[in-house]
Amino acid sequence: MKLLTTLLLLCAANAAQANPFPTGNAQTGKALFDKYNCNSCHAAMLGSDGNSMFTRENRKVNSPDKLIEQIKQCSGNVGANLTKQDEQHLGAYLNQYYKLK
Ligand code: HEC
Repeated sequence: MKLLTTLLLLCAANAAQANPFPTGNAQTGKALFDKYNCNSCHAAMLGSDGNSMFTRENRKVNSPDKLIEQIKQCSGNVGANLTKQDEQHLGAYLNQYYKLK
């Protein structure tokens, strides 16, 4: 019974907190995004607003884990040595496009 109560509480907590990047700050993420010129390649590739990378029809990222993975991969491109916290900030920022739960 105790276990069941705990599980129910956990579910409730999860539902209340749909944000997958709770320790990230979207504004800080945006600052990092600009600092590392993240959209330079995206814009060149797509020939348009770089942000359309995140809303294109066949976009790749479809889960918070994949978003973090992609941030890591792309930050390697620019030699940015992101901390785990930076990744959370960028996740929070980019999730304005992805709206992942
Ligand atoms: C050297 C070029 C380059 C730079 C700089 C770059 N990216 Fe990317 N990014 C790419 C390419 C290429 C793709 C497309 C990958 C694919 O389609 O397989 C991509 C895709 C992405 C996606 C996934 C889009 C999708 O399909 O859902 C995210 C998120 C992303 N980049 C984040 C970043 C962030 C954050 C930074 C800055 C730290 C950054 N990128 C800098 C080249 C770059």
